[in-house]
Amino acid sequence: KRIYVLNGPNLNLLGMREPGIYGSETLDDIASMLEDRARELGVSVEVRQSNHEGHLVDWMHEAQAEGAHAVLLNAGAYTHTSVALHDAIRAIEVPVIEVHLSNPHAREPFRHKSWIGMAAKGSVSGFGAASYRIALDAAAAL
Ligand code: DQA
Repeated sequence: KRIYVLNGPNLNLLGMREPGIYGSETLDDIASMLEDRARELGVSVEVRQSNHEGHLVDWMHEAQAEGAHAVLLNAGAYTHTSVALHDAIRAIEVPVIEVHLSNPHAREPFRHKSWIGMAAKGSVSGFGAASYRIALDAAAAL
């Protein structure tokens, strides 16, 4: 089972970006934690990050074409704006799990709407880097 872990804008700055909100772990730290957990679960992970909306759309299509088992998607701020990512989730058969480090519902009102959550299989938010691990466990069990 191959699980894509797709990360959107500004997540390349994790570790130095608002650590009080997002924690001090870098995306590389999260990727190696996920690789360890994937090994325990007997799955594999493909972790990517882009600041460009269209790259994320292309990777969702690739996940479908490559027969991925699931996609974990932290779309960053595109969560709150992207009809294109919403449509991409609906366009593919691969189940998509929404992931956030913070809990957007407990933050500014502009973060309360999620175009990703409206189309995703489920969501994990608010547990910092552990959100990814919990989502990986859920994805592996699908
Ligand atoms: C985020 C939450 C979003 O609102 C924000 O724009 C991000 C990160 C999170 O993981 O908590 O970039 O997706």
